[in-house]
This record gives sequence, structure tokens and C-alpha cells, in this order.
Amino acid sequence: MQHRSQRITVVGAGYVGLVTGACLASIGHEVVVVDRDAGRIAGLEAGVMPIYEAGLAALVSGEIAAGRLAFTTDLAAAVPGAAAVFICVGTPPRPSDGHADMAQVMAAAGEIAASLSAFTAIVVKSTVPVGTGDEVEALVHARAPAADVAVVSNPEFLREGVAIADFMRPDRIVVGTDDARAAALMAAIYRPLNEAGAPLVVTNRRASELIKYAANAFLALKITYINEIANLCEEIGADVEDVARGIGLDPRIGSQFLKAGPGFGGSCFPKDMLALMKTGQDHGVPLRSVETAVAVNDARKGEMVRKIVRAAGGSVAGKTIAVLGLTFKAGTDDMRSAASLVILPQLQKQGARIVAHDPAGMGQAGPLLPGVLMAKGSMAALAGADLAVILTEWPEFAALDLDAAARIMRRPILVDLRNLVDPDEAARAGFCYRSIGRTGREAELRVPAEAAE
Ligand code: UDX
Repeated sequence: MQHRSQRITVVGAGYVGLVTGACLASIGHEVVVVDRDAGRIAGLEAGVMPIYEAGLAALVSGEIAAGRLAFTTDLAAAVPGAAAVFICVGTPPRPSDGHADMAQVMAAAGEIAASLSAFTAIVVKSTVPVGTGDEVEALVHARAPAADVAVVSNPEFLREGVAIADFMRPDRIVVGTDDARAAALMAAIYRPLNEAGAPLVVTNRRASELIKYAANAFLALKITYINEIANLCEEIGADVEDVARGIGLDPRIGSQFLKAGPGFGGSCFPKDMLALMKTGQDHGVPLRSVETAVAVNDARKGEMVRKIVRAAGGSVAGKTIAVLGLTFKAGTDDMRSAASLVILPQLQKQGARIVAHDPAGMGQAGPLLPGVLMAKGSMAALAGADLAVILTEWPEFAALDLDAAARIMRRPILVDLRNLVDPDEAARAGFCYRSIGRTGREAELRVPAEAAE
């Protein structure tokens, strides 16, 4: 079937806006991405990506060359004639209370309202608290009472590192609107993905807004659950990887997001959990499972510190710790709510000297982790260290030459907070090895006598 190309404006050339804009162009639409940051726009036109995301630079330059994607700082000029204007601006946590700050969303909506011409769908893709669509609609109607407009919710489910694949092959496309014209337009925009198999879920706006939070909170609950099961595994002598496999094969549970680790982080889960908690409290429906998961996840960082200190023989004072991985997960340079930001300062406070390596995150991490020395490679970080900690699941750490690593360290002690390394191989290389929830398979930690004092 021939797909009709739609004219689409995307407001915000950040993570979500760029991926959305480039992907919508690649399915045949005519897309303009707007950002008020002139330097960012000039960079994008020259092929310089402001964020680290696999495949994005090639996609953007390809779509520019094909004439389907353009960039501008002029929002007023980019709105008239667009069938849909996607709001993809940031909703950072407010410093005052940690809840999502809607200032950029409302500012964008106000500016769009001032330039509306024919029927336009204003599509809120930024993650916004339930009810924000109503507020955007009220603002637009107040600013432009005569405008023919529908405000639509269309949450994103993009994982950093695989965002393009997540956009192009989504599990579902969620559209929240009561307006039939807007629903038809959204169906037309997403038709190529829908025809390729992605179900289109059309709901009212509030349900759509809630779907985003409910999905992320559920995933974060799942992670928190397996982390607590891992704690139990350590006490009873079971392997959490076996338990995760054993429960994950039940399709009602599913095997994804059952990887135990140092706790969830990133730009979405922690912020979205807080926003959902607040929505629940505001409506007199406290979400106690979500509140508990947040508390358990916060406490987890301290547990990881204690695990590291125990592995060091009871104290890290005066010791050099090599930290492999700083970002909140692999495949990104993003440091937002990374476990390293809590764990490393606590180790420093206890007198440890920290040398770290991260394949992508050292630039972002440097200013956030004062006193942490950044090493060019894993081996450089490990050289002379008293203990090594794997904090992020980068594939290069899984492929570490354990024999060489054990030789180059002052003491071969490895605390693997992502279960990347095989316990038997670590033991064969001479490591005293500790991981998450795997005492069932771990070689007993042989703490060197002098470290155990
Ligand atoms: C998440 C959602 O997955 C995505 O759908 C949403 O739109 C944005 O938020 P992202 O923040 O990129 O994406 O990261 P994700 O891969 O979901 O991981 C989040 C955190 O959970 C990371 O800290 C990760 O290390 C941790 N995690 C994930 C685990 O500890 N175990 C797992 O099994 C999965």
C-alpha cells in the first residue's frame, strides 16, 4: 500500500526528538526538527550528534541527504503547514522535589499555539505526568481560542543504545486521544510500522499517559524483585541466574529485565517512579509497591558499597580500587542516576583511591566524580589496583583477559556487580571473586591475609 507522507515538526533535538525525527523521516515523512540551541542545530546540519546513540549519525545524515529531514531554530516558521507537531523536550526532575518539571513542555505548547494555522495535532511524546495533556490543551485554547487543534499523547518506549530499533520495531504504538481526526492522522503517520506488525493501541489521553509510567514502573519493579531474590540466593547458596531462567521461562513472567545488578538507574526509571508515586499520592491512591521499590533500589547502592568493602577484607582505606564502567548501563555515555555516582563517593569517603575506565562515559563522568582518576583502558585502570569492581555491563569487560588482569593487579580481587564474568574462570585466573546472588557457584573468596586485618 502506498503510504502518504505527512509533514511533521518535532520540537526538541534531544534524545527523544532526534530519534523520533530521524525515524519518522526514514518511514517517508517530511520532518523538521526544531531546537532553540543554534549551536546544536548547526552541529546537526554538519552531522555532529549531540548525544551518543548507535546508528543515529548515519540515519540523520542519510535522511538529510534524502531531503526528508531538516533542522531549524525557527519554531514559528516550522509549525504552519505541519499536520502534527511532536513535543519532545526535556522533563527533568525539579531540584525542589524531584518531580518532573513541565516548564519546557508548556513553553513549547505556548509557542506552537501562537503559530497554528489549519488542523494540527500537538503530540506530546515527552514523558509527562498524567493530566498534562489536559493542561497543554487548556494553554493552547487560552492562547489560540480559534485554533483547530487536538492534543495527543504518544509516549516513547526507547531504550538508550537501541533506540532506533525500538522506534522502528516497537512492541506497540500507544496513542491517546478522543479526537477521531487526530487518531486517523496518528494511524497514518505510524502506518508503515503498524503494517510491519506493531500493534496500535488507541486509548483516551490519560490512559496513554499512564501506560508509559505503568510500563516503566513495572520493569523497575521486576529488576528490584530479582535484586532482592539475589540477596536471598547469597544467603541460601543458590545462583540467581538459574532462578531468573527458571522463572523467566514462564511466559506470564518473561525472561527480560531479570538481570540482577547494582540497581536500576538512568534518565527514566528513577524519575518516572517518582512522578508515578506523586500521581498516586495526589489522587489518594498511594502505590505502595512502587514506593517500596524506590526505597529498595536506593538502599541497594549502600549494599553494593558494603559488598565491596567486605571483599576488600573489611576496609578500603588507603586501597586503590579499579572501577570498570561508570554509565548507568552499557551502550550509552549517560550518567544520569548511575549507580557509580553514589557508590564511588562512598568508597572515596572511606579512604579508597579510585581509578576508573568507561568506554563512553568518562567525558560525562569526569566533572560528576571529583577525585576519580580516569584511565584510558581497562588494563590501565587495573594496573596496581587492590580490588576491581565491574559496575556497568559493557561487553569489553565480559571479554576481559582475566589471567592478564589478575597478574597486573596488586591483589586479584574482583567484585562483579553485573555477573559478567564466569565464577569458575575467575577462580582459575586466581581471582578472589564476588558477584551478585551467585554464592552457589562462587569460589570462596580467598581474602589475602594482609587485607583481612
Ligand atoms: C528505559 C525503558 O526500558 C524504556 O522503555 C523507556 O522508554 C526509558 O527507560 P533506559 O533508561 O534506556 O530505558 O534503560 P533500560 O535498558 O531500561 O535500563 C534501565 C536500568 O535498569 C539500567 O540501570 C539497567 O542497568 C537496569 N537493568 C535493566 C537491570 O539492572 N537489570 C535488567 O534486567 C534490566
